[in-house]
This record gives sequence, C-alpha cells and structure tokens, in this order.
Amino acid sequence: MHVLTIRRPDDWHLHLRDGAVLNGVLPHSSQNFARALIMPNLVPPVVGAADAAAYRARILAALPEGHAFEPMMTLYLTETTEPDDVEAGFRDGLVQAVKLYPAGATTNSQSGVRDIGKVSAVLERMAAIGLPLCVHGEVTDPAVDIFDREAVFVERVLAPLRRRLPELKIVMEHVTTSDGVDFVRAQAANTAATITTHHLIINRNALLVGGIRPHYYCLPIAKRESHRQALRKAATSGDARFFLGTDSAPHADPAKECACGCAGIFTAINTMGCLAEVFEQEGALDRLEAFVALSGAAFYGRRPNEERITLTRQDEPVRFPEKIWTEAGAVTVFDPQMPIHWSVRDA
Ligand code: DOR
Ligand code: ZN
Repeated sequence: MHVLTIRRPDDWHLHLRDGAVLNGVLPHSSQNFARALIMPNLVPPVVGAADAAAYRARILAALPEGHAFEPMMTLYLTETTEPDDVEAGFRDGLVQAVKLYPAGATTNSQSGVRDIGKVSAVLERMAAIGLPLCVHGEVTDPAVDIFDREAVFVERVLAPLRRRLPELKIVMEHVTTSDGVDFVRAQAANTAATITTHHLIINRNALLVGGIRPHYYCLPIAKRESHRQALRKAATSGDARFFLGTDSAPHADPAKECACGCAGIFTAINTMGCLAEVFEQEGALDRLEAFVALSGAAFYGRRPNEERITLTRQDEPVRFPEKIWTEAGAVTVFDPQMPIHWSVRDA
C-alpha cells in the first residue's frame, strides 16, 4: 500500500508550552491534527478554569492562518483545587480533563499531588459529572527503581483508585509497560491509556548505547524491549481503550544537553510518518485510523473528525528536519533511528 487516507487525527496528550516555544511548535501539530488535549504543566501551572481560558486564547492567537485546530484544555490538579471551579469549567465546555501529576514525578510537577486523599472531593465530583482524569502514572518514592515506577504506581495508586471510584473515567497517560497495558485491559471501557509515538519505537537502549543520548530521555522513561512489544501490540490491536497521545514535549536544546537535562521528546513533526511506519511493520495499517482518530474521540465523547488526511509511502526514506528553530532556541526533533517512508501529503 502506498497511499492511506484516514480521518484527521487527534492528539490526546500534547505539550505546547507558552510564548516563543508555543509559537514555534504549534504549527507542527495544527498542520496535521484537528484537536489536541493540551497539558497544563506550565510555570505557573494551569490550575483554574480562568487560567485554562486564558491559555486557550493564547494558543488560538498563535495559530497560523488557515489552520483549523481545537485546543482541548486540561486543568492541573492540586491539593487545593476547588470542585466547583472544575465543574464550572466543564459545564462551559472549556475543560475536557483534569491532569494528575504526582508531585515531583516529572517536568513542572512540583505543584502536583502529594497525598491523593486530599483530592478526593474533586475526583468524586469528576466521577459524578463524567469529567475524565488523566494520570501521570509513576510513583515518586525514591526507594522505587525508576524503571519500576509505573508498575508500582498501578499497584499502589491506580488499582485502589479504580476500585474506589468505579464511575470515574481514567486515562493512564503514556503507558510504557506491559503491567500498565494488562491493567487497562482488565478494566471496563471507562479506563483507557494513551500511547506515545516514541515509546512504540525506542526501548531503553536508545538512551544509553554508544553514549548518553539526552534526546531520548522522557518520563516515563523508555523500558526494556518486551514492554515496547507489549505497547505495539496494544496500539495495533484495535482495542479502543488504547489511543494516541504523542506527549510531544519540546525543550530547547541547552535544557536537554546538559548535566541535568529535562525529560521530553519532541515528535510533533514526524509523528504521523513514524506511526504509519510502525503500523505497517505490525501489518496493521488498517488499524491506524482507529488509534489516531476514532478511539480517543469515542472515549472523550467527541465525534471523530470529518476531514481526511492522506499519508503517502515513498521508496526513499523521508527526510524530516533534525531541529526546528524557535525564538526560544533550537528544539531537536525525535530521531526514530530507522528509515521512515511515510509522510502526510500536503493538503
Ligand atoms: O517526558 C516528559 N516530558 N514527560 C512528562 O511527563 C512531562 C513532559 C514535559 O512537560 O516536558
Ligand atoms: Zn506529558
């Protein structure tokens, strides 16, 4: 197959940042994606509905002419988040989800949740009104090995939460382990998981073989090969509980190439080509549309996009840019370490 036309995709987990970085990265997402769920971990974070409204306006102002793109806003859950504010944002049609960051788990998570008991009232309200909770599923206990933090989170936090609030819609964001996949598979349809492009392509060797490679450092950290295989199986299975959230997370190069580099991989530019390559390798090109354009929309109660995009396959590998230049500096683009033959045809 050399041409594939599918519904315009959605990205159910995207970091756009703000200011100069927002201006530089947004066009690469809005070019291909109709909608994206926008992560709230700015500094300061997007905590209240008013913050989300203001951030949404800044995103729309940065949108290039001619791009139709809907930023779907999330709130950053803190131990002082007010259930009424969350509900008001939801009723206005502004807030599509609330994001739980365990404090200290990742970039700009200092204001996140230390004690999940302290956010019970918000979670109960969300369960009652049907507002999804997006979870960064890693424990922060320093005694737990970084490669085990997701599996331990499932056991210590997610499973008990799932039992306590069976009505709550929960998305396990950027699942990276077979433990996470198995957990989601064992639940009803109101538990789902997003899967990133990069976790389908790299395993933990990419970070360390031949030298330390900061542009493969993200959180949750890439795991061993057997986990990557489990993610590929889940993504290409057609199971509607697994859908795309790229977690494209730009950081200017100096913030990654240093003694203590930030977590985050920038994939907005080549995500669709990379995914088509993965689905082709798995003999599942016919399921790409479900993963990128149908299952996530269904979970969030949205109609799939009516517009279509066309992906084309060329014999020579596609040359994607190695970096983009923003007014906040260069940002390195994800290098999949394999030839990518697919790209989105310009409209
Ligand atoms: O790799 C990551 N980057 N993981 C996260 O959880 C946050 C993100 C970011 O904001 O840079
Ligand atoms: Zn993220």
